[in-house]
Amino acid sequence: MKVVSTIQELERERKMLSSPVGFVPTMGFLHEGHLSLVRGAGKESKSVVVSIFVNPTQFGPEEDLASYPRDVERDLKLLENEGVNLVFTPSAEEIYPPGYCTWVEVEGITHILEGASRQGHFRGVATVVLKLLNIVQPDRTYFGQKDAQQAVVIQRMVSDLNLDTEIVVLPTLREPDGLAMSSRNIYLSPPERKVALCIFDSLRLARELYQGGERSTEIICHKMTDLMLSQPQVKLDYVGIVHPQTLKKMVEVKPGALVLVAAWVGKVRLIDNILI
Ligand code: PAJ
Repeated sequence: MKVVSTIQELERERKMLSSPVGFVPTMGFLHEGHLSLVRGAGKESKSVVVSIFVNPTQFGPEEDLASYPRDVERDLKLLENEGVNLVFTPSAEEIYPPGYCTWVEVEGITHILEGASRQGHFRGVATVVLKLLNIVQPDRTYFGQKDAQQAVVIQRMVSDLNLDTEIVVLPTLREPDGLAMSSRNIYLSPPERKVALCIFDSLRLARELYQGGERSTEIICHKMTDLMLSQPQVKLDYVGIVHPQTLKKMVEVKPGALVLVAAWVGKVRLIDNILI
């Protein structure tokens, strides 16, 4: 496994990889969710490239950029065990050199849900992903359903800008009790960790209500909200039931609907979603 941190080295190593090349962009502190993307890429491609870059431009000024968990040594061991061919670990200066001033703005779908709560977040995500795609030139690029809106935004950008890579979205990996795996879960204290389960419970409740015949988004969202707010440590950011591609609100829940939740458990902001 080669590990490089400059674009020049990456491009040199990339030329020596056998095609097709699968690419998994990450911010590191890898868990089984990330590794499931790496394995997915490995199954479908001859070579796998992973990037580890905590992208500063997708964090707001009040957000957790400085405290975002990092452990590159551990990440590299995990990736080596998965048989990854090439890892890109650039510095912020490598990606955003002095004078950098070009941004990718995917309109509309980036200003709702996560975008409403995290202004400028998707501008940073779209910009860094476009740059990484240009640098790595992958045949396929893998994203997790865990960040459903991110996957939609990237798919939109790839289609709108005629980028030559196939976007593959793989299912959310969960802890045995249902909590979606996330690099931020380590910040939950043991009691908060228990409380955090109410996020997935609320999504399960949405599915059960739908399966029981309920079709009103308003009623389902109300019941999900009640369930989460029965926990005093939880502060709800949003609950939404939307079309899985356009992210438009659904008044009446239809098959394939995307149900999303964002909530604070103590100081930790968690997101999760399911498709029903
Ligand atoms: P990061 O949060 O490190 O996630 C990297 C990839 O892993 C994303 O596609 C994310 O959806 C996926 N992922 C995270 N948790 C998962 C889980 N429990 N199951 C399955 N997949 C999961 O998302 C980012 O980084 C960044 O925004 C990035 C795309 C790298 C751009 O900076």
